[in-house]
Amino acid sequence: MNNLEKTLVIIKPDAIERNLVGKIISKYEDKNLKIKELKILKASNELLEKHYAEHKGKSFYNELLNYMKSDLCIVMILEGSNAIESVRNINGATDPLKALTGSIRGDYAFSKTKNLVHASDSIESAKREISIWF
Ligand code: CMP
Repeated sequence: MNNLEKTLVIIKPDAIERNLVGKIISKYEDKNLKIKELKILKASNELLEKHYAEHKGKSFYNELLNYMKSDLCIVMILEGSNAIESVRNINGATDPLKALTGSIRGDYAFSKTKNLVHASDSIESAKREISIWF
């Protein structure tokens, strides 16, 4: 039950636009994840290029960066027991059609690009992403 981990979460512009921030943060808090850092910002191209480096060249890359820099994002470090897997389960699959009901994307997302949230997918990614944003 232990495995104390930190993970990076981005609440994306569509979540802010749709007034879903409170509901999203509640889901993490309900699972006993603690907010260690939080900021709201309009991400620069440079920051997003670093964050999404592994997706460079993919068909959705330009659309993704244009969308992510179009408006404010909330970026957080969450900490808790098995935080990385826990947050990814709460978020649900990237494809909203595959995301389980009860997850953030399963309940609220209807686009692969505008999919409300991002979270680190491994301990290494969490370290890398936290150092990019904080
Ligand atoms: P995220 O968790 O931020 O990590 C990469 C992002 O790329 C993903 O969420 C989606 O927003 C986006 N993405 C991944 N796959 C696709 C796809 N097939 N089409 C469009 N966007 C995608």
